[in-house]
Parts: sequence; C-alpha cells; structure tokens
Amino acid sequence: MRPAPLAGPDAEQDVFRRLATSVNVPPRLSNLGRMNTLASRAEQLAQALLQESLSRRWAHVQGVAARARSLAPVLGADADLLEAAAWLHDIGYAPGLATTGLHALDGARYLRDTQHADTMLCRLVAHHTCAVIEAEERGLADILGLEFEPVPEELSSVLTYCDITTSPDGELVPAERRLAEIQQRYGPEHLVSRSMQRATPMILRAVEQVQDRAARSA
Ligand SMILES: [Fe+2]
Repeated sequence: MRPAPLAGPDAEQDVFRRLATSVNVPPRLSNLGRMNTLASRAEQLAQALLQESLSRRWAHVQGVAARARSLAPVLGADADLLEAAAWLHDIGYAPGLATTGLHALDGARYLRDTQHADTMLCRLVAHHTCAVIEAEERGLADILGLEFEPVPEELSSVLTYCDITTSPDGELVPAERRLAEIQQRYGPEHLVSRSMQRATPMILRAVEQVQDRAARSA
C-alpha cells in the first residue's frame, strides 16, 4: 500500500466528508476529535509502513502513541505534534527506508524528503531517545546534527519517556525494565546495547522530568 502524503490533506477523509455532506449525514462522532490532525495522518503513515512487515514494531509504536495521547492534558499545544512523533519515531526500521543503520536518521530523512513533513516533526524523529549517542557509535553524529537540529529538551523528553516506558509489544513498563530488556535482546557487546548504556542517565532524567511534569499538572 502506498502511504498518503503526510503534509497534504488526507484524501480518504476528504472522500468520507464529501460522501457525508452529499447525503446530509454528519461524520461519525468518534472520529470528530482526531479528524485531519497531524497525529491521525501520522498514524495512517506508520501503519502503512510497519503493520504488515514489522508487526511487533507496530505493536510497540501503537503503545508509544497511546502513552503520548495520555499525556495530552499535560502537553497542551504540543500534544498533536508529540503524538505524531510517537507514531513515526520508528518508521526508519521499515523495509526500504532502512539504509544507514541509524533508524532515527533514516526515518527523519524519509519524512523530510518524501513526505515534506513539518520540520519539528522530522527533528523529533531524528533525535528521539538520545539517538545522537547511537549516531556517535556509528560515526554518523556529524551528519545527524548537520541535517537535523536537536529539539528543545521539554519536547524530546516526552518522546523519550513514551518510548522507554513501552515494551516491544506495546505494554506500559518501568523504564529500568525496558532498558534491561534492550540489553538482553541485543547482547552486551552490541552497538545498540553500548549506546543505550551510555544514554541511560539522560533517559532516566527525561523520564523523571516528564513524571514530575505530569504530577505537577494533576
Ligand atoms: Fe521505539
């Protein structure tokens, strides 16, 4: 299936709206809130890229997006952008997009070059969950930084929190358990394990920041 462009209006929803108008029937109530949001278009794109080829990754991504959506009252005006980034943060693993080995860079390049997506959305995907550390390990840190400016910490910490408190199957898990699972899955010598070990203090700080922010606004 060819994904619809992320930047433009969603053709399928336009058709639905035209049909609804033509017979004077309002759109389904359950769809009103998310109709044509950046997050809803990001969800469709992520589904098209991941669901069939990487079903476990798709389960994880759905969980990360659910975490982001649950934080919407805390995030205010950034809620739609951050949920969109949650949907898209792992698309760089998709067959055809994975070229450099650094999925954050591959995903962000696809969003920038093919989808002509919002610049901040591309930057969030490029730098999600301390990607710069893995970029250093892969010798790609300069390229990542030149192509995509880092994002403000108050945005990046939210995506880190959502990613690192979601298991590979999409369940809510403590950050420490998720970090241990990554070490176990890749093995202690793997570049990804080494990167996550180096990133752990920053990741745990981001998790704490978001939990404090959520507690303050409760
Ligand atoms: Fe992820």
